[in-house]
Amino acid sequence: DSIPVITIDGPSASGKGTIAQLVAKKLAFHYLDSGALYRLVALSVIQSNVDSTNESALADIALNLNVRFHDSSLQLNGEDVTNSIRTEECGKLASIIARQLKVRAALLQRQRAFRQPPGLVTDGRDMGTVVFPDATLKIFLTASAEERAQRRYKQLIEKGINANIQTLLQDIYERDARDSTRDISPLKQGEDTKLLDTTSLSIEEVVNEVLRLYNACR
Ligand code: C5P
Repeated sequence: DSIPVITIDGPSASGKGTIAQLVAKKLAFHYLDSGALYRLVALSVIQSNVDSTNESALADIALNLNVRFHDSSLQLNGEDVTNSIRTEECGKLASIIARQLKVRAALLQRQRAFRQPPGLVTDGRDMGTVVFPDATLKIFLTASAEERAQRRYKQLIEKGINANIQTLLQDIYERDARDSTRDISPLKQGEDTKLLDTTSLSIEEVVNEVLRLYNACR
């Protein structure tokens, strides 16, 4: 496939979404937030009272997700769920159901379909390792757990959502462990992937570094 793809994988709250969206904007590329798909499955599970250990039922939900992406907003079954998929509850359940092979398989084609001209920037856990193994540029974005908890804290407070830094840090540790140790598509840095530690970098510095790396390899 000659349509360029930049994959940005990394742990939860590493700033992948922010960076990927800005890079996509700069290049006028499409953008896919793959985590949102797992969160949408999680939200559907919560709304429909399906047993979250029933793999076939979850795969069914994943295959039949009725979702619409509208710039930066998201609709599920015609309902605006842009904010409701961002809760910690949804993130936690997303990372639990994301361990199931059938769910991941059900979302694979849907993710690949976002590869459209003139190009795609996507973020997640396995975008470079599994979904787009032939990506033009693969980035592994990280930051210390404390820094990530701080960033998430600021983000929530700015949105007027109550937050506790210790709870956030605990959630980050748990989610890191779950995402990194699962059998299928675990979060890991691939061999052909550039590591970018953003702990002491500004958003602008990270965006510029990704663009520099992209220009160097295309
Ligand atoms: O990135 P975000 O926090 O929105 O993702 C929610 C959860 O979905 C992650 O903790 C992870 O378990 C799962 N996920 C995944 N593969 C992806 C993207 C997200 O397993 N490509």
